[in-house]
Amino acid sequence: MSLSPFLHPFARPAAPPEAFIRFVRGEGACVWDESGKRYIDAMASLWYAAAGHGRAEIAEAIRAQASTLAAYQCFDRFTNTPAEELAAKVASIAPMQNARIFFASGGSESVDTAIKLARVTSHIAGKPGKTLIISREPSYHGVAYGGLTATGLPPNHEGFGPLLPDVVRVPKDDLGAIDAILDREGDRVAAILTEPIIGAGGVFPPQEGYLKGLRERCDRVGAWLVFDEVICGYGRLGTWFGAQHFGVEPDMITFAKAITSGYQPLGGVIVGPKVREVLESQPAFIFRHGYTYSGHPTACAAGLANLAIMEREGLVERAKHMGARLEAGLRSLVDGEKVAHLRGGVAVWALGLTPACDAMKLREAMLTEGVISRPIGPATVAFCPPLVTTDAEVDEIIAGTKRALAKV
Ligand SMILES: Cc1ncc(COP(=O)(O)O)c(C=O)c1O
Repeated sequence: MSLSPFLHPFARPAAPPEAFIRFVRGEGACVWDESGKRYIDAMASLWYAAAGHGRAEIAEAIRAQASTLAAYQCFDRFTNTPAEELAAKVASIAPMQNARIFFASGGSESVDTAIKLARVTSHIAGKPGKTLIISREPSYHGVAYGGLTATGLPPNHEGFGPLLPDVVRVPKDDLGAIDAILDREGDRVAAILTEPIIGAGGVFPPQEGYLKGLRERCDRVGAWLVFDEVICGYGRLGTWFGAQHFGVEPDMITFAKAITSGYQPLGGVIVGPKVREVLESQPAFIFRHGYTYSGHPTACAAGLANLAIMEREGLVERAKHMGARLEAGLRSLVDGEKVAHLRGGVAVWALGLTPACDAMKLREAMLTEGVISRPIGPATVAFCPPLVTTDAEVDEIIAGTKRALAKV
């Protein structure tokens, strides 16, 4: 049996070619496979296709930029107009005043950048021992060693050897566990890293007051509060950022995914005023960190076109409408027999399954019904549809899930 030369991410390397569904086209909330079968993309691909598939306007912005200046690096002396404009746009919608924007190519790079920013600002401020990063379990912060260490999903650590030192993970919603660390070594804490709503770690909204509690604790020990908004950012919670939905202002925000709706790989960090103040405090200091594609003009042009669509079509506001219909539909599937409960917020939801229903089997049955969901562990199936998903398509998601549930 010959295997595909493409070594797939998060997949079995030994999986045969027929294990993969090959998509050939997308439009709005739908994608089609090579046999012509239509699926409703109830996961916005991997939580990112906010503006939906097949947007000619973004494709045209990419073409126009790629045929003018496709790429040019931004280290040291160089810049370009799409990067400058997108940074200004992101700063204008950010929950912090006077923010600056660092660009990367995805979420993992963004999280590692935020960790490095937290540590290097301690160093600049004359506190080189302030290097501890606190994150949570469960959580997902990517696959580079910084974000991987912060990720609270033990299977993702298995076999990858020593992780990053000075990163500790505490149970979600447990402010007491954080207090215990702060009492012991509060002056060593550089940052607390948290997703506003935990996404790939299982779709868990925070308990009432938790994020505010983190803000208070960071202020108490002089640590940065970092929101990892790779999923929540750019409209998923009915506000540009989850920070605005929860009314808590972080010091840094990591983002990726929906900034371009996936049309180009792009991520970054919103650097708030207090962090920038430290970074800019020493005129001779050089931030020796950056990626070849930081500020990539074609990726940034895609981001500008995507955000223009989101604004013009009111997609941030639409998240609330689409999400409410999805929530009501999914709630009607909670039967105590196969589906124990529903959790999430605004436009990102998950069914919590009973032992009578395996998440992987449900996902497979849903694929047969033409609905794409995402299993997380054995007892969770996640939903995060494009923000353009129509009422009729939301109803199709619910009907397909219902039929699948009856089969497993
Ligand atoms: C909250 C969060 N942080 C970081 C990442 C990593 O992003 P990427 O896969 O683009 O590296 C993800 C990916 O899903 C994420 O959900």
